[in-house]
Amino acid sequence: MEDILSLRHSFQEEAESAASLLELQHLKIKYLGKKGLVTARLKALSSVPPELRPSFGKAVNEIKIFIEEEIDRMEALLKQEEHKKRALSESVDITLPGKSVPFGREHPINITLSVITGIFASMGFEVEEGPEVELDYYNFEALNMPKYHPARDMQDTFYVSDDVVLRTHTSPVQIRVMEKRKPPLKIIAPGKVYRCDADICHTPMFHQVEGFMVDADISFSDLKGVLELFIHSMFDKETPVRFRPSFFPFTEPSAEVDIGCIFCSGRGCRVCKDTGWLEILGAGMIHPRVFEFVGYDPEIYSGFAFGMGIERITMLKYSIDDIRIFFENDLRFLRQF
Ligand code: PHE
Repeated sequence: MEDILSLRHSFQEEAESAASLLELQHLKIKYLGKKGLVTARLKALSSVPPELRPSFGKAVNEIKIFIEEEIDRMEALLKQEEHKKRALSESVDITLPGKSVPFGREHPINITLSVITGIFASMGFEVEEGPEVELDYYNFEALNMPKYHPARDMQDTFYVSDDVVLRTHTSPVQIRVMEKRKPPLKIIAPGKVYRCDADICHTPMFHQVEGFMVDADISFSDLKGVLELFIHSMFDKETPVRFRPSFFPFTEPSAEVDIGCIFCSGRGCRVCKDTGWLEILGAGMIHPRVFEFVGYDPEIYSGFAFGMGIERITMLKYSIDDIRIFFENDLRFLRQF
């Protein structure tokens, strides 16, 4: 009986310190397994003197049941605890602030470009593109600017080699398109251009949109009509438009197109340098020599062309006074559009 009592004590002691289901499992084997301490007592029953057998048997049975129940109880308890621990470690605090995913957005230059493209598309113009690394022939020669012609100095050119340049304007796309297609043509050609120049109004890379229309009987009034419609869609319907005589080797006559200053309504201010006008693009009637380069008969065909800087128009539209900010990728600036 003393043996059974001490068995009970040692079990209770060990059970108290069992901290995991695994330890409990070991305990179960130690006491109730095939070679367990309780099992051994049960097996020993036959060697107990017959008169003591019933009471010894009863005591062993009692402790067996006690240990079984105790282990079941503890197992349930430990399982519950483990479940709680898991729930806690896997839980999500839905009151925490969320992690925001940063979004990119359309660059202001691209916004202006889509507006411009949209306006000309509504007038039936198609979009064409040309290479940024361009042959001297397309950038200058076929635009009536032979080598060593002083007009080349109008644009500070990045030369890749003697015959290859970074295009200084989008006008070479005129030549490339006219070489492979026949009139009638209504084309706009947007893209990057390069000039060796850098200050608050110039970056070595900037964007232009070229436009041109070629057919029989295209006149300067077509040019005026198309550009006025464009300007009145891009800016205010009432914006005054002025064509000022100018010079480009590939157009004749040539003009620079001004709009009434949108900041002072023509009264004169810092932006328009007190002239009341802002220059926004160059234009003219395509020079007969250019038509000869692409094999069009200048007696049959005529056309106009224009070219504008997208940065310049964006700066006017949004009152931005430093061109360099477009290319700094400062999100505080870019997020405002
Ligand atoms: N290519 C000229 C420039 O970059 C602009 C222009 C285009 C002028 C078409 C006339 C006709 O300055």
